[in-house]
Amino acid sequence: MDVITPRVPIIVALDYANAADALAMARALAGSGCAVKVGKELFTAEGPAIVGRLSELGLPVFLDLKFHDIPNTVAGASRAAAALGAWMINVHASGGREMLVAAREAIATAAARPLLIAVTVLTSFDRGRLAEIGLDIEPAVQVERLARLTREAGLDGVVCSPREITVVKKLGRDFLAVTPGVRPPGSAQDDQQRIATPAAAVAAGADWLVIGRPITRAAAPAAAVADIAASLVAPTTSN
Ligand code: C5P
Repeated sequence: MDVITPRVPIIVALDYANAADALAMARALAGSGCAVKVGKELFTAEGPAIVGRLSELGLPVFLDLKFHDIPNTVAGASRAAAALGAWMINVHASGGREMLVAAREAIATAAARPLLIAVTVLTSFDRGRLAEIGLDIEPAVQVERLARLTREAGLDGVVCSPREITVVKKLGRDFLAVTPGVRPPGSAQDDQQRIATPAAAVAAGADWLVIGRPITRAAAPAAAVADIAASLVAPTTSN
């Protein structure tokens, strides 16, 4: 099985409740060179077949199921996700070292190994919410700690907000930063709080930009992908 690789560093979030809506958007994006993200809602509603149907359209799939369980269970889930042909999968770094290593080892021999990414601290957590679950520290401190653990466990990278990219990239230039909270200049902020433009996120070191509504609600989604991709290329100066 060949895993298709994106041509542009953009992952479009297919935040839909059913396959018909997701596939309609995917057809609009086919050929744009982006990847797509399937989350818990779409996956739970439509089942694993959605991954294959999106891949058939030539779109690499980030299967965003954020596994978090005992090592043996996460290993099995990761192996199953890899067998679906996902291009990128993820787990929670707070599942701990053994769980992270088990996930990595479980996909090591997959016919096509997906990129394995860890979520550090969900952006829905602030300092108060972290304290409630027994972590009386700044979220950024916990992000750095979990990113380091993820690196040590041999995973490919982490999901992080634009403001955490610098900390993550200090762990290694090849350690991937997958970054949501990205908004092209002039587009609606929606419910995102800590945003950066695509160009600023990439300049800070982001490897993959997760973008939903600015693309899925555009009149021409593929053109929106192309515009964002063009904005990432530094303008050449002429003299
Ligand atoms: O529409 P929008 O660009 O805000 O979509 C961003 C996508 O990234 C959504 O699927 C959202 O759940 C996801 N995400 C996020 N912030 C995180 C992690 C994931 O916005 N910290």
